[in-house]
Amino acid sequence: MSYLEVRNITKRFDRQTVLANVSADIEKGELVCVLGPSGCGKTTLLRIVAGLETADGGSVYINGRDCTSLSPGKRNFGIVFQSYALFPNMTVAGNILFGLRHKGKLGREEMRARVDEVLRMVDLSEHRNKYPRQLSGGQQQRAALARAIAPAPSYLLLDEPLSALDAKVRVRLRGEIRAIQRALGITTIMVTHDQEEALTMADKIIVMNNATVEQAGTPREVYDRPATPFVANFIGAMNFYPANEVVCAIRPERIEISNAPGSCNVAADIKGFEFKGAMTRIYGILPGQTEICVDISSDRADEIGLCERARLYLRIPEEHLIKYPPPAARVM
Ligand SMILES: Nc1ncnc2c1ncn2[C@@H]1O[C@H](COP(=O)(O)OP(=O)(O)OP(=O)(O)O)[C@@H](O)[C@H]1O
Ligand SMILES: [Mg+2]
Repeated sequence: MSYLEVRNITKRFDRQTVLANVSADIEKGELVCVLGPSGCGKTTLLRIVAGLETADGGSVYINGRDCTSLSPGKRNFGIVFQSYALFPNMTVAGNILFGLRHKGKLGREEMRARVDEVLRMVDLSEHRNKYPRQLSGGQQQRAALARAIAPAPSYLLLDEPLSALDAKVRVRLRGEIRAIQRALGITTIMVTHDQEEALTMADKIIVMNNATVEQAGTPREVYDRPATPFVANFIGAMNFYPANEVVCAIRPERIEISNAPGSCNVAADIKGFEFKGAMTRIYGILPGQTEICVDISSDRADEIGLCERARLYLRIPEEHLIKYPPPAARVM
């Protein structure tokens, strides 16, 4: 049995189904990312796991125990919400202490020591006496994380903890959160709609769309073997084209390209390209007007003398083709 089990959770708000039969298994010590577009039900799922929202059907088991109707206070989790949720009238240290007092397990000295310890973990010792408005966005999120982990909860719920931050800070904090999570061995569910965040941080990714789970697997599995066209399209870039009874899908970086026909035997007319630094993305048209995009290293682009309106030749390796049933045959 997994440490955290979500079984057939259903949730409606008025007449809208927000979660339809959602199940998930999370092992002890794992960091699982719930990934999906805005409005697909990620926050609602997290709130049900926390007990902050009641499901209309289904169950949540924590450590083998049915917690479906347990109040949040009895569940022993730490949470960081989607927007900063520090108390504005308390210092960083005050915010962390509040969480500890609330749990009421430690004596005064122990609490003080614990505050020092988590402040060191998130590297905010120097800022302990500042108020939230005196902190940068990244510092506020680190303080919120410190407050969540201070009572040593048995699991951690993070709702887009990095979404309000700029790209550089976000990448640095990803690493920091992951390191703390690993060091504490704390079972964590992190919601995000950023596929790169999920790919880089997660042990396992749960891809959601329209109130349902499309696929759950390791980052490698969901990238290399996306179970549905939605997953294929949502994580990374994907070319789709119809062939006989199936829809074929191939990642842009899997396609080989040459300026002379040979092993690359599919002619493509180049419409345009984008220089992206180390990589260049090429937009081409295949016979039959199928659009295709190909990612190659920018060095390779120089080698083949890439220019607009050129004719180039592609090879689509069979071993990297993914095949889906045509839309009409798909069970929606
Ligand atoms: N309390 C509520 N009352 C009515 N509808 C709600 C309530 N909370 C959420 N919803 C609706 O449920 C759907 C899912 O919301 P949810 O917050 O779970 O999405 P999300 O995946 O977290 O999206 P985002 O990425 O934008 O945060 C949305 O259509 C939302 O409008
Ligand atoms: Mg949300």
